[in-house]
Amino acid sequence: MKFAIRYQSRGGKTQKVANIMAEVLGVEALSLDTPVTEHVDHLFIGGGLYVKRHNEAIKVFLENTDLSLIGEIVPFATCNEFSNVIKQIRKFCKDNNVKCSDEDLCIKWVLEGMLDIGFRGADFTPELIERIRSFASKFKGA
Ligand SMILES: Cc1cc2nc3c(=O)[nH]c(=O)nc-3n(C[C@H](O)[C@H](O)[C@H](O)COP(=O)(O)O)c2cc1C
Repeated sequence: MKFAIRYQSRGGKTQKVANIMAEVLGVEALSLDTPVTEHVDHLFIGGGLYVKRHNEAIKVFLENTDLSLIGEIVPFATCNEFSNVIKQIRKFCKDNNVKCSDEDLCIKWVLEGMLDIGFRGADFTPELIERIRSFASKFKGA
């Protein structure tokens, strides 16, 4: 199985999620600046959400990816409340006839208030780290 992980991350939280998955899958998690140039069975793509209803960097990345190289896309996202990123990736896959995994990972941070947006409330507890690790592990034998 060949894996690739690409993430968009302003504050570092999605990057941390990507890095935890990368450790499990034995690949390097890279930012969206690095295109996928060889065939992979599973391409993990994720990002945060920043007020807009979609993640622009992910949109641009997907539009510029050679989809013939991708076995399937696995969406992941982090957000405070409600992330459209998973939905956005799924819609792209459907519209472009790319296989999208039935599985996705959406991490919502528990907030203390509006001021926490993007700054606090994101705690990588041992339970969360285990959740991320076990999500990635599912693909190892798939
Ligand atoms: C300017 C800004 C706007 C945000 N807007 C939203 C939003 O509309 N909906 C939401 O659920 N989370 C929102 N968030 C929260 C981020 O999506 C969330 O903290 C995410 O984990 C950030 O990932 P990152 O650290 O990888 O950049 C916002 C964060 C920032 C900084």
